[in-house]
Amino acid sequence: MSLYAIGDLHLHFGVKIKSQIQLYDPLWKDHEEKFMNYCKEVISDEDTLVLVGDHSWGKNLEECEKDFDYIRSLPGRKILTRGNHDMFWDAKKTKKLNERFQPELNFLQDAYEVYGDYALIATKGYAFEGPYYLNCKGEIIGWDEEKEEHAKKLVEREAQRLYKSFEAAKADGYEKFILFLHYPPTNIMESDSVFTQIAETYDVKQVIYAHCHGQRRFHDSIEGKYNGRTYHLVSGDYLKWIPMKILD
Ligand SMILES: [Fe+2]
Ligand SMILES: [Fe+2]
Repeated sequence: MSLYAIGDLHLHFGVKIKSQIQLYDPLWKDHEEKFMNYCKEVISDEDTLVLVGDHSWGKNLEECEKDFDYIRSLPGRKILTRGNHDMFWDAKKTKKLNERFQPELNFLQDAYEVYGDYALIATKGYAFEGPYYLNCKGEIIGWDEEKEEHAKKLVEREAQRLYKSFEAAKADGYEKFILFLHYPPTNIMESDSVFTQIAETYDVKQVIYAHCHGQRRFHDSIEGKYNGRTYHLVSGDYLKWIPMKILD
């Protein structure tokens, strides 16, 4: 039994692709087929696969139908977390999604899932992405402060969601945690954030995140060992569509 993770499938079986990188980067060519083949090679039906947001370009459930069929056909137990492009998923209506799609698809938000003696906690997260203003040497000399203020509110909302989920898992006796964020845990100017602090408060073993696409973005945040826990970027193009094993 193993736990795997990957993010950003950005499926488009029902609608058009909406990203330039996905249209033209060779890494994205036939990525659905590549990913399916890797999953069949490594994941068994006893395993769990966490899909860390940005599942589909569809704007509503009807437009996502074929993408969900694809996800259903992947091996293992499937847990989906929210990404910024998942327009079909209103966080407040997660219960309805689960009523409709469980047990094949499990939508995780404001709750926790169990893997062995671990509680799996997830939310979209948020990281300020600029715009940043650079000098001629490419150094950051400023940023859009209005957008930064808005970002702070989104970060706070996501943090509150996490506290609620961690406390629910703790109240049920769980002491070991894996945290899944869609956005990176820090923005490019930060070395710590409310998300790294939450990871430390609850002694999270691993923090898994996605969202960063393309060489220029892969190193936007923390990767590897940091303050006693391990951080992993699992966006699909970063992993070249091979799901990452998180736990045995
Ligand atoms: Fe994405
Ligand atoms: Fe994203």
